[in-house]
Amino acid sequence: MKTSAAKTFLDDVINGLSLAQKQLSPKYFYDEFGAEIFERICTTPEYYPTRTETMILKNNVAEIARRIGPNATLIEYGSGALEKVKIILEALENPNALVPLDISKEQLMVAAKKIRTEFPHLNVLPISGDFTKPVELPKKLLNAERKVAFFPGSTIGNFEKEGAINFLKSVRATVGENGLMLIGVDLQKNRDTILKAYNDEAGVTSEFNKNILIRINRELNGNFNLNEFEHAVTYNEEHHRVEMHLMSLAVQTVRISGINFHFDLHETIHTENCYKYTHQSFSRLVEAAGFLSADSWTDSEGLFTVVLLTNKFRQKF
Ligand code: AVI
Repeated sequence: MKTSAAKTFLDDVINGLSLAQKQLSPKYFYDEFGAEIFERICTTPEYYPTRTETMILKNNVAEIARRIGPNATLIEYGSGALEKVKIILEALENPNALVPLDISKEQLMVAAKKIRTEFPHLNVLPISGDFTKPVELPKKLLNAERKVAFFPGSTIGNFEKEGAINFLKSVRATVGENGLMLIGVDLQKNRDTILKAYNDEAGVTSEFNKNILIRINRELNGNFNLNEFEHAVTYNEEHHRVEMHLMSLAVQTVRISGINFHFDLHETIHTENCYKYTHQSFSRLVEAAGFLSADSWTDSEGLFTVVLLTNKFRQKF
């Protein structure tokens, strides 16, 4: 019998592959193997966001820690390997707790175990699940002095506008009126630099994209032939977003849990959007969710920015 997660996965795949423009949600990239491949993407020479954001955090951590203040509870959304949050934890005065949230349970537990050994006095309270849905914090943290959401990596760019606003609103509710959000945002720049970041020479991003087909084959009894699909990336100038697709290299039929899906030659499955912002367009987005951009730190080339958000309705910061 299928678990409810497997049933949701199957329903989403059937619905997505039945659309005129076939699509699959990027959240399904991240099983244990997908999370691992993503960590490898972050180290490719072409994928500038990770190293640039890390450098911005390191260069400005004293100022960031001062703005956050003492006794903070950090809630990291989509925490992955927990590497970036360590930079902040090391600089904070007496951090109260860390709540890492991630969809990939295996990676979450390994990372939480590791960070406990590195910060033995820190309360580490991992929660595994879909962090795009409202999160219930452990009871003992509900009255924590200052809750700070940390959302690095420009994962906000993987949301559509309305989804981004709803997500930011739910984070604002979680951190409360006194709370903050520290968020990494990839900036608009020349399309070549962006396209290369999503089409690295070593083929790691291609492997990441195709992992969604491997998952469908394994978990939903599918028969995708990986050699018959190609990783395809475009930059949509109108919407300022990278689009990742999987392109069919043949006319073919794929069977998933007993259901047939037809593919024309060069027909694609749209697997991910990665929106790129300007400082202004990002400020407009967060304001629509009730936040204000209170401060931001950007690298000298203007590739990436880290923004500190406060509650728009709070009187004083
Ligand atoms: C997780 N997220 C911010 C990555 C991005 O850049 O949009 C996912 C990714 N997809 C391909 N490469 C990286």
